[in-house]
Amino acid sequence: MNKVKRTYSSRSRLSLPSSSPSSSPPSTTKRKCFGEGGENEPPIKKRITIKTSPSGRSAKPKQSVLRQLHFSIETSVLRTCTICGLSYTRGAPDDESLHRAHCLRVQRGMEWGREEEREAEKVGVEEIQSAVKLKDGKKGRIICFKANVSGRIGSKLTILLETINLALSSPPLSTDILQSSKAYLYLIPSLTNSHREKIVGCVIAQRISTAMTVAAPSETLLKRDSDEATHRHSPPSSPTHRLVAVDTTSGLFCHPEALPTPLGIPRLFVSSAHRRQGIASRLLSAAAATFIHGCPLDPVNGDVAFTQPTEGGHAVMQNWGGGGVRIYEE
Ligand SMILES: CC(C)(COP(=O)(O)OP(=O)(O)OC[C@H]1O[C@@H](n2cnc3c(N)ncnc32)[C@H](O)[C@@H]1OP(=O)(O)O)[C@@H](O)C(=O)NCCC(=O)NCCS
Ligand SMILES: [Zn+2]
Repeated sequence: MNKVKRTYSSRSRLSLPSSSPSSSPPSTTKRKCFGEGGENEPPIKKRITIKTSPSGRSAKPKQSVLRQLHFSIETSVLRTCTICGLSYTRGAPDDESLHRAHCLRVQRGMEWGREEEREAEKVGVEEIQSAVKLKDGKKGRIICFKANVSGRIGSKLTILLETINLALSSPPLSTDILQSSKAYLYLIPSLTNSHREKIVGCVIAQRISTAMTVAAPSETLLKRDSDEATHRHSPPSSPTHRLVAVDTTSGLFCHPEALPTPLGIPRLFVSSAHRRQGIASRLLSAAAATFIHGCPLDPVNGDVAFTQPTEGGHAVMQNWGGGGVRIYEE
């Protein structure tokens, strides 16, 4: 059985043909390699323990030893936040403040202020839609810019992506991917400052070349039957034997053929206080409509692909893409 190697957290990197135009052509050898387990590392722990400050500086050794001794007398020093899922060392000031900042960003989003607006025109930030109404009646706007921008907006996007990667336990996006991508952000007015907005949703849209179609549930059942048959030493006979397992828990399987697909979504994130308001769907629609100038893309027709989705990502994929969204390797 073809197995995938995870990209998001304990989710593995797809073992499959795909993907960005710069990558090497699809190869079944590569897939077999993964299938044989050669490159399958043990799953990475979803929770991350912070060891250093964001700048890479370590805490002063003497001070941190003293503090840790004090805390470890009565209770475990490692705490996992139930809101953002991050594990950090309790009582270590660097860890505590890094967690606090991360947790706030995950819940409420980051600020988009005057300083960003001042640079917006210079780096080509476009407003894609204004007064986009959410389910709770609040209105926001969608902006878009190249994911490899520099300056203040580039730094803001870097911190936003670090937050998203930490929340998803995903690796950073490579420079190559950022060069072929655009960031779509959903902004809502700040409640406390009329000159500022909050970035409450982010979609990274990447130019890709190929992706795989998702197998229908009926084919997935056949696949499971055929796997059981294989375990009973019967020869694989059905074509469904060739399905690629993306996520066996949720039953996400794909057909291995690499089909031409223009748009990939390697990151999708909405801050937790603003979920289920339609922000992810609005951002995805904006990306599909505008990613390629003059050529609106249709997820139902298979123009859009996700990397292996989380549970929430899978639900959005189904709801927004009507079963037509494909899967690709980042
Ligand atoms: C997944 C995520 C991006 C969804 O964002 P969102 O703005 O809440 O999504 P939407 O409101 O557009 O959802 C559209 C539909 O998708 C489905 N859906 C979305 N999130 C869901 C969830 N957690 N559970 C079940 N269904 C969900 C629903 O059908 C929803 O429509 P409904 O609210 O009318 O029922 C957001 O929960 C998130 O950022 N999660 C953490 C990061 C993550 O998992 N990213 C996905 C990586 S692939
Ligand atoms: Zn937290």
